[in-house]
Amino acid sequence: MHNMEKVRLLEFSQMGDERGHLVIVEGNKDIPFDIARVFYIYGSDADVVRGKHANKKSQFVLINVAGTSKVTVKDGKGNEKTFSLDRPHMGIYLPTMVWKDMFDFSKDSVLLCLSSEHYDPNEYIRSYEEFEKIVNENDNV
Ligand code: TYD
Repeated sequence: MHNMEKVRLLEFSQMGDERGHLVIVEGNKDIPFDIARVFYIYGSDADVVRGKHANKKSQFVLINVAGTSKVTVKDGKGNEKTFSLDRPHMGIYLPTMVWKDMFDFSKDSVLLCLSSEHYDPNEYIRSYEEFEKIVNENDNV
């Protein structure tokens, strides 16, 4: 399966009651990897585009735990898909070697990012040309 086909929306269990909402995300159960790293992005203006990278090793799940944003995923071969992240109990799974741009952040957006790897800048591909070159030289991605 090509990596672009692995991109999918995930729906998490909700345990709401009269006290409020509770959403459960367990590594290797609700998402397809062990969680090694958590970071979150907030305070990005509506006209900001973040991400703009592909990753050789890191898989991610992105969840807008508050507010909304969008993410466009590209395979470097001309295919792209845009997803709206607008529910706290939904996430998007991003496998390795897909390009992602996050944008359209609402003022109250808090984008929670779960990753399969610790941070290593060397596994980030930040040049779209380099990404295109790698995916077009390698049939498996
Ligand atoms: P960056 O990758 O540009 O964030 P985004 O993908 O949201 O656009 O990261 C911004 C800065 O933070 C950059 O200097 C690298 C650093 N950083 C870490 O040190 N550890 C991390 O886990 C992440 C995601 C970023």
